[in-house]
Amino acid sequence: MINLRQKLERQCKLALMRAFPKACDGGKLSGKPINPQLVRTNNPEFGDYQINAALQLTKILKKAPRDIATSIVTELTKNEEFASICDSPKIAGPGFINLTIKPERLIQELITRLEDNRLGIPLAETNDGKRITDPIIVDFSSPNIAKEMHVGHLRSTIIGDSIARVLEFRGHNVLRLNHVGDWGTQFGMLINHLKSVAPEALTKANAIDIGDLVNFYRKSKERFDSDNNFRERSREEVVNLQNGDPTSLKAWKLLCKQSRDEFQKIYDRLDVRLTERGESFYNEYLQDVVDDLDALNLLVKDDGARCVFLEGILGKNNKPLAIIIQKSDGGFNYATTDLAAIRYRLNPSPKGDGACRVIYVTDSGQSNHFNGVFQIADRANWIPTGKKIEHVPFGLVQGEDGKKLKTRSGETIKLKSLLDEAVNRAEFDLRRRLKEEDRKESESFIKLVSETVGIGAVKYADLSQNRITNYQFSFDKMLALHGNTAPYLLYAVVRIAGIVRKGGSLATIPKQLEFTEKQEWDLVKELLKFDDAINDVEEELLPNRLCNYLYELCQVFNRFYDQLPVLKAKGSSKSSRLALCLMTTNTLKLGMNLLGIPTLERM
Ligand code: ARG
Repeated sequence: MINLRQKLERQCKLALMRAFPKACDGGKLSGKPINPQLVRTNNPEFGDYQINAALQLTKILKKAPRDIATSIVTELTKNEEFASICDSPKIAGPGFINLTIKPERLIQELITRLEDNRLGIPLAETNDGKRITDPIIVDFSSPNIAKEMHVGHLRSTIIGDSIARVLEFRGHNVLRLNHVGDWGTQFGMLINHLKSVAPEALTKANAIDIGDLVNFYRKSKERFDSDNNFRERSREEVVNLQNGDPTSLKAWKLLCKQSRDEFQKIYDRLDVRLTERGESFYNEYLQDVVDDLDALNLLVKDDGARCVFLEGILGKNNKPLAIIIQKSDGGFNYATTDLAAIRYRLNPSPKGDGACRVIYVTDSGQSNHFNGVFQIADRANWIPTGKKIEHVPFGLVQGEDGKKLKTRSGETIKLKSLLDEAVNRAEFDLRRRLKEEDRKESESFIKLVSETVGIGAVKYADLSQNRITNYQFSFDKMLALHGNTAPYLLYAVVRIAGIVRKGGSLATIPKQLEFTEKQEWDLVKELLKFDDAINDVEEELLPNRLCNYLYELCQVFNRFYDQLPVLKAKGSSKSSRLALCLMTTNTLKLGMNLLGIPTLERM
């Protein structure tokens, strides 16, 4: 209830200023902006919100907290707008002020949202009420060409997509960038190796399998590490490529295409949209990065390489950590590309994207890299005021044994087989359930439900964890019909669709709503928290906030639906309860959509 809460904040601030005009002179209290410390209560017995300021102001105002609270309450109750939102405030304990929103105000809010296809979530605006047009870049997924896309990339894809969806829904212009690793020494090695073992791969499309490509890559790395001659020729190959030699470029393009087509299959299956703009895109801007850092006196020669020594970040041997910008052989690094990318992304168009916020979604193993790169960009003054660049790190995906996720035989798991297994298990569960319930369903129904549940379960299991922590991958847990899982949430939508099938109409929104039971009010209040959850995701970039909210909503809904009649209720009670079902299903569908999970009418 962001709008009601904002109104209350204003009223509380006003009340403080009126109660203590001297201390609040100039809109500040003891040098700080006046803050009534309005928070949500954690126990519904104490109402919806509480004001905590009285306790913190005793020293400044030299009064007992309960006296301060009394003065605030006196001012609050004089105010008409406040009185139209809340029942009379109650002072509790040493001086908390408890606020309860009036039931009619909650109903009014619910009706407004029922009639709004955005469910009461406003489009993002600047402080002075303008739409924000500068793009937000979400850099996510970003696998490496000629290498396998691994579970870390899957996590980045799922989390990045959800963040992008939430920002898009809020009306932001989101640029979803796939910063694929498509440049650098590895191509010299690979092309050089393929020349001797599978030259056809360098001239003909799809001459080799992607799995082979990965193996060729591995082999070429081995040769690179052990054979001086091979290493030398690989370096020459990189130079050829960088100089735009047509045969090298053609070979490089073929290799990229092959990987790209393979990645695309995964994106299609996950219904994730990305714009590829790989590392190679920034090639022409790399020398400028070096020259400009040099002109700013930030570069130091260290062992032939040109580095920036970080401030406040120590490396091994307790010396300031150095980030290599240009290697001794003149080549550039991962960090150099990211610096060029920051400049391009923040530069106003037509020389760049003109983004106002850049979000990087990678595993937390890259936190040092981003800290370093962000610090350099900052010291070089490449981040204009008001613009934000943020790393959104996530933990490792582990097997149920807490170790790195592997196949039984110890190999890394292929993403395709991981998704296949989730879908197969969902199908197995579904067929068993159909048999138990003696239901006959078409094969196309079974396919649709298994795919939706299987993929949805993988996504939800990932998103519902606090992304910072490592997460244990368990098919059994993610596919369970109970607990904080995709199937549990999907099932609530199916239950509500069932009400319609049994003759309940959700089509007309009643003009008046009437609630008498606690379960109804609990559901009303839970439904009205949706905008807070969306807001949390947008600010903290933690999709698990939205998952937890949706899970809580399902639990509150199931209590309501299990304990109170809906179709058998009478008169306005029936239409009011149906309206709650409608709002619940709309909220779940939208919420799941923002997680990238489609919902089903039957399952
Ligand atoms: N390709 C990198 C990897 O696989 C991730 C790139 C992330 N984005 C970036 N701008 N550095 O680890």
